[in-house]
Amino acid sequence: MKVSFLDLVTPHKELREELLAVANKTFDTAGFIGGPMVEEFERDFATFCHAKHCVGVNSGTDALRFAFMAAGIGDGNIIVTVPHTFIATTEAISQVGATIAFVDIAERTFTMDPIKLREYLETKCDFDASAKKLVERKSGKRVAAVVPVHLYGQTADMDPIQELAAKYNLVVIEDACQAHGAEYYSQKDKTWKRAGSIGLAAAFSFYPGKNLGACGEGGAITTNDAALAQRVKMIRDHGQAKKYYHDMEGYNGRLDSIQAGWLTVKLRHLEKWNESRRALARRYHKLLGSSKDALVLPVESSWTKGVFHLYVVRVQDREAFQAFLTEMGIGTGIHYPIPLHQQKAYAHLGYRTGDFPVTERVSREIVSLPMFPQLTESQQDLVVEKIAEYVHARVAATR
Ligand SMILES: Cc1ncc(COP(=O)(O)O)c(C=O)c1O
Repeated sequence: MKVSFLDLVTPHKELREELLAVANKTFDTAGFIGGPMVEEFERDFATFCHAKHCVGVNSGTDALRFAFMAAGIGDGNIIVTVPHTFIATTEAISQVGATIAFVDIAERTFTMDPIKLREYLETKCDFDASAKKLVERKSGKRVAAVVPVHLYGQTADMDPIQELAAKYNLVVIEDACQAHGAEYYSQKDKTWKRAGSIGLAAAFSFYPGKNLGACGEGGAITTNDAALAQRVKMIRDHGQAKKYYHDMEGYNGRLDSIQAGWLTVKLRHLEKWNESRRALARRYHKLLGSSKDALVLPVESSWTKGVFHLYVVRVQDREAFQAFLTEMGIGTGIHYPIPLHQQKAYAHLGYRTGDFPVTERVSREIVSLPMFPQLTESQQDLVVEKIAEYVHARVAATR
């Protein structure tokens, strides 16, 4: 038996009739762009995220970019995020003309460390209280926004991030591209909040492998701010609110109607799929307990209810571990092997090795195990069995 890292064939077999009905409807009406299918999905996804508005766009990258633009952040601004994320987070920052500033992640959660954020804001920047502007000393640029990334399906620790943002007049845009349905317990508000309802706006990706994936490209912005939602609608559609009346230049960044229709079908299954991922994560946790000396298992903080987009363990001899599993027919992934501040694309930012030690350490050790809602218990048992085999052989070799 082989276990793939991700199985996208099974869910589409299960939903084939419903998905084909959407395609037939689209062909019958030739309503390929905009219209009721997009509006229905936007309503449903906003409700799912406990947000007032959702605007469908053509990718998670554009969702981030359009959210920054609609929030008025761009040229001459600094946007703070983490170096342990997919490059799309920072591409969107550069694409609006802003400058990237990194702060390290917390070791237990793989998400933005609020202490490191505070350190950056308070030791590297000065606050002009009368202008309500935080300015980075080195560049003289205004720090305008912070982007916590809800990585692997767990939310960042949002209360302290929001508190710092409020203190220094920063906009918070959540990168929720891996966190459809994840929840955060706000001590401050004494309530659970869904990813996508916490910051000024949030960006989601519907790349096929995500917890909610399209049959192609797709993304969305959620927000409780009606004016921001309206601006995003214009930005995604060439800056027009009315056909051929362009208030500004925008983009061709719309969500296709057929993708919206397919996403509406899949959204009905998302709670069940997320629950299945949670159950699989609990089962991994229990079954991998005996390999704990060699593996660091993911930790779910009390303030987050994760949706396990990925189940990521840490292991010292990652290359050998991954090679062994590959040989045994078990697919794995690495998310992500090279921290962004060490990527060639960001050499111009001037960061050095050692600047973000937690990110650098975890990026050498992380391995994502097979995790998708249709993963069977017998497949999972095989993954666990092969890991135990590897760990025992390693322990025996080092005796
Ligand atoms: C954390 C993160 N941010 C942004 C994106 C960008 O999403 P998309 O691929 O839909 O542009 C992704 C998707 O891979 C992601 O994982």
